[in-house]
Amino acid sequence: MAQILPSIFGANILRLQEEIQFLEAEKTEILHVDLMDGTYVNNIAFGPNQIAAMKKASSMIFDVHMMLANPERHVDDVIKTGAEMISVHYESTPHVHYIIQKIKQAGRQAGVVLNPGTPENVIEYLLDDIDYILIMTINPGQPGQTFIEKSLEKIRNTKKMVAGRSIKIEVDGGVNTDIAKKVKEAGADLIVVGGALFNKTPKESYQALRAAIQ
Ligand code: DX5
Ligand code: ZN
Repeated sequence: MAQILPSIFGANILRLQEEIQFLEAEKTEILHVDLMDGTYVNNIAFGPNQIAAMKKASSMIFDVHMMLANPERHVDDVIKTGAEMISVHYESTPHVHYIIQKIKQAGRQAGVVLNPGTPENVIEYLLDDIDYILIMTINPGQPGQTFIEKSLEKIRNTKKMVAGRSIKIEVDGGVNTDIAKKVKEAGADLIVVGGALFNKTPKESYQALRAAIQ
């Protein structure tokens, strides 16, 4: 069954604790947490110390999306946050297999992230080592962008590629209620939502998003 993963980057930073409590009251299983370094992407967000503090204050599973140059330098700190799921951009390092190995050796779920311009077949030799594939449906770094329609084809192709394996497909960027339905139909299991959830009516929006993927 597909599920919605709220992206804490879309929450109101001045009310972070209330936002986390709201998501827990709504029985959120997995929280998506962006880690941006200002180099691999322009934005800067949530370093390991902040993620560890949020993790301590929450019972949700944390899915950390590393948008970092030289992730090999930071992966140990990310593991120390306690995050159960950690993903690395395929494009961000020549050592993607090494990083996945580190995440797995630490007993966490490992994901590999694909930018919109990266074809899914480049990760063929990683399929035995990963738990999930995160397909970016916008270019990473900025919230509030428009979903790239071509992603639906990539989701369908990725679904075919992983057939027979327990690898989950996650999507991230520009998802609203209508798009949640489309990506679910294309094969997405984990659907990240930022702006379309953390708006003026989060409770209603969350309900509508969940209803759209039933
Ligand atoms: C963007 C981040 C996303 C972001 C999504 O680079 O990876 O997780 O929070 O925000 P929306 O859903 O508003 O596009
Ligand atoms: Zn993300």
